[in-house]
Amino acid sequence: MDILGLGYVGLDAPDPEAWLAFGRDILGLDLGRAPGADAYLPDETAGRGADGSVYFRIDDWTWRLAIHPSQGQPGLRYMGFEVAGPQQLEAALAELEAAGFPARHGDAAECAARAVSGIGFTQDPAGRAIELFYGPLVTNNYRNSRGMEFLTGDMGMGHINLFASDYEANRDFYTRLLGFRLTDYYHVGPDQTVNFFHINPRHHTVGLMKVAPIDGVHHVMFECSDIDMVGQAYDRVLAAGCKVTASLGRHSNDRIISFYVESPSGVEVEIGWGAIKVGPGWTPKYRGPGDIWGHHGLTAENIEQTGRRA
Ligand SMILES: [Fe+2]
Repeated sequence: MDILGLGYVGLDAPDPEAWLAFGRDILGLDLGRAPGADAYLPDETAGRGADGSVYFRIDDWTWRLAIHPSQGQPGLRYMGFEVAGPQQLEAALAELEAAGFPARHGDAAECAARAVSGIGFTQDPAGRAIELFYGPLVTNNYRNSRGMEFLTGDMGMGHINLFASDYEANRDFYTRLLGFRLTDYYHVGPDQTVNFFHINPRHHTVGLMKVAPIDGVHHVMFECSDIDMVGQAYDRVLAAGCKVTASLGRHSNDRIISFYVESPSGVEVEIGWGAIKVGPGWTPKYRGPGDIWGHHGLTAENIEQTGRRA
């Protein structure tokens, strides 16, 4: 299957307005254009859909992250993976169907709901909603209002780290079917592994954690073009008294310098800079555990706790 990258993510949250303030004022994301709106709306209505959903943008796409109101368990509502066009979407859905997974073409209303030109729907073995799409709505002249610049383009919007109660089934789905390749993995306990998969030059687009019998989401990562942007976001987090779940540090695998902060709905957000890229000649690595420095608080127990909430 020919997937280009992670295009967008939708989360469920009890209070999208709390997320709006967090995403805009703390993380430094900008409010996007709700699918169906004909323009970026002025302040009081900016970034909101008619149902109270909140949309953020970080580049010329009209939105990348959606927060949907939900009274149930917060967490991932869907992930959108981009394909190049209608032929690739058709081929992908045919492959999914042949492999026994749900595979359905979306209609015009479903395209409009995501501001894309074509869309299809499936599920991973954990039951997570996966959307395949092409032709996102973009607009020109995006400049971040807080001086942040997020690395996207051929690397997609960032990465997402998920739990997999049935790791082997999920690994097979993402690698054999969707075309992801293992970048590297750590052991974090007996028979507990954290596994990182790439689909483009970004070190990993999807992480699959085999640490607990849960299928939640741990974090979504946004990568900045300058380390000062990470530091400035860190300052905003500290000034606002948000819960830092992992202090500033550098991972030994993707070498990103980052911190993790708890969002209002429990899912964590990683803001980082300086991750390595992987190329076609990359071979998977089995990494010794740990960070080069920092990331205090990122323990297997804390990771699992977030996954049970989000
Ligand atoms: Fe991460």
